[in-house]
Amino acid sequence: MQITIEPLGPDARKPLAEPFTFGKTFTNRMFSQKYSPELGWHDARIGPYRPLVLDPATVVLHYAQEVFEGTKAYRRPDGHINLFRPWENVARMNRSARRMAMAELDPESHLEAIVTLVRLEHEWVPRGEFESLYIRPTLIATDIGLGVYASKTYLHYIILSPAGPYFGSGFKPVSVYVSTDYVRAVRGGTGAAKTGGNYAASLLESERVKPLGYQQVLWLDAVERRYVEEVGAMNIAFVYNGRRIVTPALSGSILEGVTRDSVLKLAPTLGYEAEETRLDIHDVLRDIERGEITEVFGMGTAAVIAPVDRLGYQGKDYFVREAPGPVAQHLFKTLTDIQYGRAPDPFNWTLKIEVPQ
Ligand SMILES: Cc1ncc(COP(=O)(O)O)c(C=O)c1O
Repeated sequence: MQITIEPLGPDARKPLAEPFTFGKTFTNRMFSQKYSPELGWHDARIGPYRPLVLDPATVVLHYAQEVFEGTKAYRRPDGHINLFRPWENVARMNRSARRMAMAELDPESHLEAIVTLVRLEHEWVPRGEFESLYIRPTLIATDIGLGVYASKTYLHYIILSPAGPYFGSGFKPVSVYVSTDYVRAVRGGTGAAKTGGNYAASLLESERVKPLGYQQVLWLDAVERRYVEEVGAMNIAFVYNGRRIVTPALSGSILEGVTRDSVLKLAPTLGYEAEETRLDIHDVLRDIERGEITEVFGMGTAAVIAPVDRLGYQGKDYFVREAPGPVAQHLFKTLTDIQYGRAPDPFNWTLKIEVPQ
């Protein structure tokens, strides 16, 4: 792919010279390319981070035809940079695009765009413990018009935001509320796609339970409101008797998380059993009360592993454990050691980007 590199403007900032906030601070540059049926993907460029200019009637603003991704760049002890399974994000973005009737990206060019942008912005990859540079590829429908149809033109862009450790001071458990009033996604719908509407649909309930002390919502299946699906921005796992890790099977309405898949592959090599199955919330709550479920944790790029201390369900709290459990800690350490290049990478999950030292 031919990528035009534009010069930075006079207002470019010195990387990480000031305190940063994840999702609010962005690096100096962004990648973009356009799609039209006549030209295919074209006009690939990396230039200054800047606002998009969109006609108010642009399709994405009305019918939410958009998908996105989330992955991270990690600073290795040798000063170079690791990406973690970026191939999976590139592939998932295309699966999401297909579901939303959007133009798919060439996977190799997409990865090349990510690598080229991260290499140019390498000084923005922080060096602090558990810090990282978040990578947000985005694809939006850019036809102008109020008719409901699949856009013919698209914009693909990638922005970068430095991220502090998800757990500011120590590995802290989160509380989760099991929603029975609302659903996130239904089989046959768009739950398995990383598309904005899924998140918009989750906001009302997550805002309602926040003041009650729950940081995340756990969604049940939309038909029977019985089978465990996933948490707001994480997949979920339950640990039985300290050794069997059980996570909901992919149902078509769950996002196929890269961290979830990594845990499923890694767990057996660490001496745990790993199982994907249909999980009835009533059985889960019973097993928490019986003490058979010894840990619950979320899995996702942001936190990697997020221990859960309690599940709220229909006004009652089911306490799992106060402090992070040994399985969550073991998985967190093993995964982050691979991500940051502190340990061997037996699965070839990392892509090393060499940068000037
Ligand atoms: C709805 C949802 N489920 C699960 C995940 C976890 O996926 P991953 O491990 O690929 O970050 C995410 C985060 O990306 C998410 O937004």
